[in-house]
Amino acid sequence: MKELSKKIRNAPKSKIRELFDLAAGRSDVISLGIGQPDFSTPQPAIEGNINALKEKITYYAPTKGIPELLQQLENKLKTVNNIETAWKENIILTNGGSQALSLAFASIFNPGDEIVISSPNFISYFYLSAFFDLRVIEIERKSDFSPDIEKIRDSITEKTKAILINSPNNPTGYSLDMNELQEIVEIVKKHDLYLISDEVYENYLYDNSKHTSPASLKDMFDRTITLNAMSKLYSATGFRLGYVAANKEIINTMEKYHQYTAAGTNHAAQYGFLEALKMDNSFFEEILKSFDERRLLAYNRLNEMGFEVVKPKGAFYIMPKIKDYNITGAEFSKRIMKDQAVAIIPGNIFGSYSEYMLRMSYATQLEKLEEAMNRIEKFVKKL
Ligand SMILES: Cc1ncc(COP(=O)(O)O)c(C=O)c1O
Repeated sequence: MKELSKKIRNAPKSKIRELFDLAAGRSDVISLGIGQPDFSTPQPAIEGNINALKEKITYYAPTKGIPELLQQLENKLKTVNNIETAWKENIILTNGGSQALSLAFASIFNPGDEIVISSPNFISYFYLSAFFDLRVIEIERKSDFSPDIEKIRDSITEKTKAILINSPNNPTGYSLDMNELQEIVEIVKKHDLYLISDEVYENYLYDNSKHTSPASLKDMFDRTITLNAMSKLYSATGFRLGYVAANKEIINTMEKYHQYTAAGTNHAAQYGFLEALKMDNSFFEEILKSFDERRLLAYNRLNEMGFEVVKPKGAFYIMPKIKDYNITGAEFSKRIMKDQAVAIIPGNIFGSYSEYMLRMSYATQLEKLEEAMNRIEKFVKKL
């Protein structure tokens, strides 16, 4: 048989899946692996979807999405993100944040272009870059996980096409402050770059951290690809709906790619997203409070156990560094699964600078999280 695609074969299968394979058949496993909020999808989203199906909305949707939803997103972008768009020209609906990312990559890059990414960072950025034949310029984050702006500035070459940011961040929990964002924006403008801004965790912010969408800043709308999804705010990862806001030319380019690769997104589900967007976000207040409690529990316990740990400012992940145990994240994660039945993602899947780190998601009930922390403590005492 002739050889299959090198690029895709060379990408590893998801380590997260491997961990679940290790856990298969065991009922005692507590997962700190999953990037999915543990609350129920709000009822209006579910009913919106069901009602659409009852009305036999089972055919192709317009490639960019149904007008009602695009208009609602225009309104959301304006009121929540302070981004001015025209829904007919500047917004496209995607299959989750994941496909919003693929469309971003497909629309602006040519083979050999360079993309600048702070590391550690979300795994898909690295493999999408490989699939689109890009050169990744991976800039190590500082020890508090803030971006190293000096190094980012120094890394720009003739070939740099874009900087990608994800704030609040998976896996580090870092959230950019306004000064950092401004500095990144200045680099983007000075070197005529694009800024890809992955904002899927925009609502998960703690300790008075604020989210600013770079596309709302002066002269940045045309240069910024803002992407977001229904998945994290509405605990609706299975709806597979997300969106991009960008300038007209970028959206037109995305529409072509979308047309020939996916032809659109689930039609009926779009009505669910529409109903979710009409909700007042106060439904999220209690949820955020609960996530904050979990965040502090995880942070305090890991600290007490002797991990070097940065207090997350956003998202629902914490990324402790394994200091004194002389063991890599990969080894730690394999052994703790066998020994204590806790699923933890090794840091090395998030880039080149996190071999001795672990990523834990605290999107799990407080009691379970507490039990997971007890098990981790037992495990590290034996190391
Ligand atoms: C930073 C980041 N961007 C994008 C995504 C993809 O989101 P979706 O599940 O909507 O495809 C995720 C999912 O974990 C993520 O963490």
